[in-house]
Amino acid sequence: MPWNTLIDVSREHVLPLTVQIQENIKREISEGALHPGTRLPSSRQLAEDLGVSRSVVVEAYGQLVAEGYLEAAQGSGTRVAAHLTTAPQTPTLLADSRPAPVARWDLRAHNADPAAFPEREWLAAYQRAVRRMEPRELGYPPLSGLTALRAELAGYLGRARGVHTTREHIMVVAGFAQALGMVCEVLPRLGIGTLAVEDPCHPQQRQFIGESGLRCRPVPVDEDGIDVAALARSGARAVLVTPTHQFPTGVVLSAERRAALVRWAQEVDGWIVEDDYDGDLWLAHGRRPTALQRLDPSRVLYAGTASKSLAPGMRLGWLAVPPRLRGPLEEARARRDLGCEAFTQLAFAEFLATGLFDRHLRRRRARLRARAEIFQQAVRRHLPGARITGSMAGLHAGLQLPHRVDEPSLVAQALRRSVLVRGGRTYHHRPWLARPSLVVGYASPARSALAEAVRELGEACADLTGGHRLRTA
Ligand SMILES: Cc1ncc(COP(=O)(O)O)c(C=O)c1O
Repeated sequence: MPWNTLIDVSREHVLPLTVQIQENIKREISEGALHPGTRLPSSRQLAEDLGVSRSVVVEAYGQLVAEGYLEAAQGSGTRVAAHLTTAPQTPTLLADSRPAPVARWDLRAHNADPAAFPEREWLAAYQRAVRRMEPRELGYPPLSGLTALRAELAGYLGRARGVHTTREHIMVVAGFAQALGMVCEVLPRLGIGTLAVEDPCHPQQRQFIGESGLRCRPVPVDEDGIDVAALARSGARAVLVTPTHQFPTGVVLSAERRAALVRWAQEVDGWIVEDDYDGDLWLAHGRRPTALQRLDPSRVLYAGTASKSLAPGMRLGWLAVPPRLRGPLEEARARRDLGCEAFTQLAFAEFLATGLFDRHLRRRRARLRARAEIFQQAVRRHLPGARITGSMAGLHAGLQLPHRVDEPSLVAQALRRSVLVRGGRTYHHRPWLARPSLVVGYASPARSALAEAVRELGEACADLTGGHRLRTA
């Protein structure tokens, strides 16, 4: 490759040639064209490509090595330093793309438990599915998903979540992130310009909705879930909710509020998007709430995902679509891509049909329940003034702190003790008004590490309060 396409120098420029080469290389590294570890041409080669003397390149390389941009190793030439990160990735809907500080205990909410992935069973299902695949299934899949998977999902959602739907109304998507993108595209076509969200909620979702051109209207959440009266006052005609396990507080939408929410949608001729992101992973004893969708399948768009129950890397989700939204959503889907990858769809259909998913969920719930219990005990012991909010489900819990705790100082002090945790205020529309809290993911650390991490959180609190343990709220 002639390097003068990337590195462009001119004798007319006010800057010396050496500096121009350095600036060009730094720019290409920061913009992501030159990746960490990329080998640069020899100084002789680059000098030839650029039409400059070799000493100019040698000096430029030397300076970049001194500044840490390049590494020079005997025998392997000059490379872009391995520790440098490439260009910032395009922000995705849900993932926090900021590099996380290194910590011994990582208690962030989105952390999955990679060890819980049912590798053997998944491989077996995948193999069977690929072996049985028919030639037509190697073509472009139907936009809404393969019939076999949609039939399995309709059955599963009915028996496991009480969803009222049929295979014709199931749509397979690349995770909830894609579904939300489609919803944001479809609502304005239905004459809706505002999408209400819960406050607190996922900050990236709030940002995404705002950037999609819709108005995003945060509506407060209390112990019973979203405040439906406040929603009605907001003037919105569509809302995104997490009724089974509110994200991030964990509260469950009460029966009265469920009924009121559906009544509101009927009265305003509006829509409810039910994000049932961890509905498969109800851990508390006692009855798990069924999907809100069953109260009015014509108004509630139900969304599920494999991200919490299996792995976010699968990029697999599903919708149970109200009949009136089916056409618009299919059109929106057609504008986006040509459907979800068929192999994973067939394998997941097999996984559902053979009962492997149910078995996996039973094991996963038992594993998570054990961790949730350790977490609860550790909180009682080391953070007695804190209160776990809502119900135990999924991979995380909300932890309310006494008013006097300064949340940002606690998060910073926890990190000094090598615990990486997110403060609850980051999820709020108006963080300065929110009560101090933490959002704690308990799925990924080993059980013993989990108790240690909470103990360190307790110590971090004590550091801030002059050695006193956190007492009453
Ligand atoms: C509130 C919420 N909804 C949905 C999802 C899942 O999104 P996806 O299916 O795109 O992975 C997540 C994952 O972190 C989430 O936190």
